[in-house]
Amino acid sequence: MIGGSLLLKSQVPKLSKANRKKPEELRSHRWYGVKDMRSFAHRSRTAQMGYTRSDYAGKPVIAIINTWSDINPCHSHFRQRAEEVKRGIWQAGGFPVEMPAMSLSEPFQKPTTMLYRNLLAMETEELLRSYPADACVLMGGCDKTTPALLMGAISMNIPAIFLPAGPMLRGDYRGQFLGSGSDVWKYWDELRAGNITEADWGEIEDGIARSAGHCMTMGTASTMTSTVEALGLCLSGYASIPAPDSRHAQMATLTGRRIVEMAWEDLKPSDILTAGSFDNAVMTTLALSGSTNAAVHLIALAKRAGFGLTLERFDELARKIPVLANIRPSGKYLMEDFFYAGGLRALLKQLTGFLSLAEQTVDGKTIGELIADAKVFNDDVIRSADKALVKSDGLAILKGNLAPDGAVIKPPAAEAHLLKHTGKAVVFKNYDDLSARIDSADLEIDANSVIVLQNAGPQGAPGMPEWGQLPIPKKLLEQGVRDMVRISDARMSGTSYGACVLHVTPEAYIGGPLAFVQDGDLIELDVPARKLNVLISDAEMAKRKAAWVAPAPKFERGFGKIYLQHIQQANNGCDFDFLETQVHASNAENSQKRSKGSEPEIH
Ligand code: FES
Repeated sequence: MIGGSLLLKSQVPKLSKANRKKPEELRSHRWYGVKDMRSFAHRSRTAQMGYTRSDYAGKPVIAIINTWSDINPCHSHFRQRAEEVKRGIWQAGGFPVEMPAMSLSEPFQKPTTMLYRNLLAMETEELLRSYPADACVLMGGCDKTTPALLMGAISMNIPAIFLPAGPMLRGDYRGQFLGSGSDVWKYWDELRAGNITEADWGEIEDGIARSAGHCMTMGTASTMTSTVEALGLCLSGYASIPAPDSRHAQMATLTGRRIVEMAWEDLKPSDILTAGSFDNAVMTTLALSGSTNAAVHLIALAKRAGFGLTLERFDELARKIPVLANIRPSGKYLMEDFFYAGGLRALLKQLTGFLSLAEQTVDGKTIGELIADAKVFNDDVIRSADKALVKSDGLAILKGNLAPDGAVIKPPAAEAHLLKHTGKAVVFKNYDDLSARIDSADLEIDANSVIVLQNAGPQGAPGMPEWGQLPIPKKLLEQGVRDMVRISDARMSGTSYGACVLHVTPEAYIGGPLAFVQDGDLIELDVPARKLNVLISDAEMAKRKAAWVAPAPKFERGFGKIYLQHIQQANNGCDFDFLETQVHASNAENSQKRSKGSEPEIH
């Protein structure tokens, strides 16, 4: 009944006839409806695929951007879901056109899917621009697919609705639940410490990922799909339905039905997204103790929409938003439990006093209306503010002479005694150096040391991979150490945990202060005071900077070269500089700016 009531919430509102677009006002009319030779070609080629005019004439063409791939296990149900979306589109009188796009499979794509997030964003925008799409369904969920698809759709600014892949089922190991990523790191350390056997490790391998769907901890995938719901860009109540649940298939059909209505309503991202809706997304991330990656992706999304979301805004909101979701890695449960406990609507209901409730959504209602009657069914999974896991600081933004433009830490995922810590740096020049030396018996390191990794940022790695949960040396694991202060310009998987300071900006590779840290330097981390400093004098810092030699670019051709020329730093969302929308005073201006010059000539 829980899911049933959620699905009923999102039944499509009736269209007001006065606001309805006319068929000749549809974008696709220029391809199909006009009387010229080119439209003859479009119609005859559509007939070639077995369609008759009655299938599409006068109907909105709905692009289904599908990131299915044989090598993306998180989206392995998307072929079937695309059919269910099409069913909804046909039911509502639209013409569905499925368009495959780059999949960005988190476990397989190297060096990191982040290197390609902006490429998928560009592909999405250009698919929508160059084909006769009146509106689109964006099928994503595995980490970077969500921000990428939305960035492209926001820039194109035609009606768009997101279809979240949904989390996979809980993992199983001898009757205990396993969480994606989080339990990999945990048991890997136990294996290295000699506490479990290779055979145990093999059993975990077989049981940790046992259905379609994205990671079911509060990793980047669950964080970002939840923020999509908070932004109002997917049907309400749907972001957390487990992927194999029959209600997920029902959701796909309802999503297909709703996008047809949105095409007639011309309900675009610019009609939905505001500074307030981005604040709602940030607060949702904080209450979930969501992935630190949200601090990169939400800034990129906001900038595409023309809003100046900053790291400082994350920190400002973090000081007042309690952590309410008891989900790994910061808590105990998994996304399946979260859905049964009421899902995101129930969590948002707990945040009612903080949220901007008047924000619009793809449902055609305000977020306040959609959560008005939401209920929590398990108050250990979704806590009330007075029983919060942590009263505030789901994320914290640090600054200091080591990170003048900011760095990110997730305090609830760290051992509390490390949140105010000064220790000697043990520095690794790059990831290869780290891999080669971290387990050396003669490495001079103890539990109070601070592990520093340089050159793992947007340009340095390149692609800013999720290397930030730096490994604890084997000899310290054997002594029982499970957390240490670790600092890098990399990102960290949302499923990871520990006292890991991430996204240090500017990055080492472009001459940020992280490049100048040396073994033995004292590093001061003070999360309550939001400080991150290397305790050397300004004169010493200047001396090291003067001696620093800029490294050669990592790519000399292809997409990598474009990437290196245009990628921005983490505090700016790592978008390409030529893809951002300038921040304007109003939504109307933003909308104009995004749409300008976006229509192709049809010859
Ligand atoms: Fe796809 Fe984690 S691997 S979401």
